[in-house]
Amino acid sequence: MDVTQFLLLISLTFFFAVGSITTQPLDTDSLSSSFKCLANNATCEALAGYVPLNTTTLAHIQSLFQLKDLNSLLGVNFFPPSTPENYTIEANQTVKVPFPCRCINGTGLSDKVPSRTIVAGDTFYKVGNYVFSGLVTRNGSISGLVTWQQIAAANPTLDIYNLTIGHKFRIPLPCSCDEVEGQKVVHYAHVMAPGSTLEQVAAEFETRSDTLTRVNNITNPSRIQAGQVIDIPLKGHGKINEVPNSASHKYEVLQPCIKSP
Ligand SMILES: *[C@@H]1O[C@H](CO)[C@@H](O)[C@H](O)[C@H]1NC(C)=O
Ligand SMILES: *[C@@H]1O[C@H](CO)[C@@H](O)[C@H](O)[C@H]1NC(C)=O
Ligand SMILES: *[C@@H]1O[C@H](CO)[C@@H](O)[C@H](O)[C@H]1NC(C)=O
Ligand SMILES: *[C@@H]1O[C@H](CO)[C@@H](O)[C@H](O)[C@H]1NC(C)=O
Ligand SMILES: *[C@@H]1O[C@H](CO)[C@@H](O)[C@H](O)[C@H]1NC(C)=O
Ligand SMILES: *[C@@H]1O[C@H](CO)[C@@H](O)[C@H](O)[C@H]1NC(C)=O
Ligand SMILES: *[C@@H]1O[C@H](CO)[C@@H](O)[C@H](O)[C@H]1NC(C)=O
Ligand SMILES: *[C@@H]1O[C@H](CO)[C@@H](O)[C@H](O)[C@H]1NC(C)=O
Repeated sequence: MDVTQFLLLISLTFFFAVGSITTQPLDTDSLSSSFKCLANNATCEALAGYVPLNTTTLAHIQSLFQLKDLNSLLGVNFFPPSTPENYTIEANQTVKVPFPCRCINGTGLSDKVPSRTIVAGDTFYKVGNYVFSGLVTRNGSISGLVTWQQIAAANPTLDIYNLTIGHKFRIPLPCSCDEVEGQKVVHYAHVMAPGSTLEQVAAEFETRSDTLTRVNNITNPSRIQAGQVIDIPLKGHGKINEVPNSASHKYEVLQPCIKSP
């Protein structure tokens, strides 16, 4: 065992020790972030809202989610095509990322990408908590797009106690390919911001709160928590480049502001 393996082992032990305590009081009913996806083995385009914990850049997000070109990121966020790749994204600013979705056994998950290859300095704790913002908060609620428990579950053949540099694992993002109310839509995995309500989110993304409660099987809308991931069906005939700008008006105000040195 080399030093890196040893450090990974230590951090894994730490992670799982922490994880097993904090996940105890979890209300999995209200915090479940797997999306229903009934069309078996169907594939489609999906979106997820990435909320970086630290200031970052579009280029970094492009690399994290393995997007072939920057334009796909600019397009879905309605950034001008001239936006530079070093454009700064502030902490807590939501950036939509496109990814391929596949439905298996009633649940939709990202198909092959994104994935993560362990590099020097990576630890499970760091990747899970900071890189993909999958937080298990102190009070036990799951916060963010994907958590370590979900990553471990999606990689059953990975020996999580013996990770080495170069090991690759998939990052399972929740998604769906199902039609909603007889319409082809683009399913968007949205992380609820602190203080926001289902009504506000429905208005922002031009849907109805009763559609959201039904799609997400939410029995008690007042129990929605910050950090919870909900499935928002966006208009767009199943194509991310046909999602109307109005569903993203929040981002129109953002213009590239290149800091002067
Ligand atoms: C799902 O579809 C892929 C091709 O897209 C195929 O290779 C695979 O065998 C299918 N899996 C199941 C369980 O039907
Ligand atoms: C995020 O920022 C904090 C302090 O601002 C720093 O300690 C931490 O290492 C940063 N995390 C990453 C993943 O860069
Ligand atoms: C981001 O949001 C979290 C949760 O609301 C908050 O604790 C944190 O201070 C915010 N960070 C920034 C840089 O605004
Ligand atoms: C889907 O369900 C079938 C039958 O229950 C099972 O054999 C298969 O392993 C499941 N696939 C996944 C990816 O969970
Ligand atoms: C850990 O993995 C490496 C290669 O990936 C292997 O050579 C080694 O035997 C494994 N160690 C244990 C304890 O499984
Ligand atoms: C919806 O939620 C109810 C109760 O919370 C549960 O019994 C039911 O199985 C859920 N349905 C689906 C499709 O997840
Ligand atoms: C746990 O903390 C999150 C924010 O970190 C908050 O939104 C949520 O209401 C808290 N849950 C409980 C049960 O206190
Ligand atoms: C982005 O890159 C350009 C040239 O590549 C440079 O002039 C500019 O200062 C950079 N902006 C930031 C915010 O780093």
